[in-house]
Amino acid sequence: MIGQPEALTGRTAVVTGGASGIGARTVEVLRALGARVVAVDKSFGPADGEDTEHCDLGDVAEIRACADRIGRRTGRIDILVNCAGIVGPEASVADIAEDAWDLVQAVNLKAVVFMSQAVIPYMTRGARGGNIVNVSSASAHRATARSVAYASSKAAVESVTRVLAGELAPHDVNVNAVAPGVTATAIFGAAQDSDEDRARRASQGATGNLFNRFAQPDDIAQVIAFLCLPESRQITGQTVHASAGSIV
Ligand SMILES: NC(=O)c1ccc[n+]([C@@H]2O[C@H](COP(=O)([O-])OP(=O)(O)OC[C@H]3O[C@@H](n4cnc5c(N)ncnc54)[C@H](O)[C@@H]3O)[C@@H](O)[C@H]2O)c1
Repeated sequence: MIGQPEALTGRTAVVTGGASGIGARTVEVLRALGARVVAVDKSFGPADGEDTEHCDLGDVAEIRACADRIGRRTGRIDILVNCAGIVGPEASVADIAEDAWDLVQAVNLKAVVFMSQAVIPYMTRGARGGNIVNVSSASAHRATARSVAYASSKAAVESVTRVLAGELAPHDVNVNAVAPGVTATAIFGAAQDSDEDRARRASQGATGNLFNRFAQPDDIAQVIAFLCLPESRQITGQTVHASAGSIV
């Protein structure tokens, strides 16, 4: 486990996509470091407990209402992890449907901008600084056929990360991105893959990497957590590649 126990005690974190995969593991890791973590996801309901928030991140009005509920309840938001994402249907520029394009851009890109916007007032009050981590993808850097909406949304997330790092530096807020490679979660149906399928996807073609292995959600969550700790205070506006050398 990265960091000292209690390193984030007294800090409040919001993790989008916190119900599954990388986001769910990030919630656990930040809680283990002492943070109060509110997990946000469209799949949460009233039965999921106090520190979960139902929110459809495809809807900016819901994003604003969600951030305000959390901010009013906790008083301050120190950490925001924009982790929720979807791949959408495989489609090329030649055949992508407008609604499929719009949905991927709304969840993967627009929600990152407007969740950050909604959280900023709660992060910049009190001059305590803060951390924003946006989850990108190796796909932002490596062209794969029929992934135009997903790849472009993630490339834009990295651009937003750089711009926002400059805007929030006067408030002592670090803004970074993490770009995972293939990771064993539900997003690509990978959770159902056999070991053989995973080995093939990690070793061949556009998703291949130098270690020929899938990441586990914990591999990515630990990197995200590092970017929320004081030890990473000199890192801002960067994308940290956690893709086993798929981008070198
Ligand atoms: N798994 C991989 O191989 C991989 C590789 C590179 C990048 N990523 C990125 O990692 C992030 C996390 O993905 P994951 O692999 O853990 O997948 P996942 O499917 O396990 O988790 C994604 C979560 O986002 C939530 N979500 C989706 N649409 C939403 C919406 N409109 N409103 C609210 N919540 C919504 C889902 O309910 C789910 O809980 C994503 O941004 C993804 O693009 C994943």
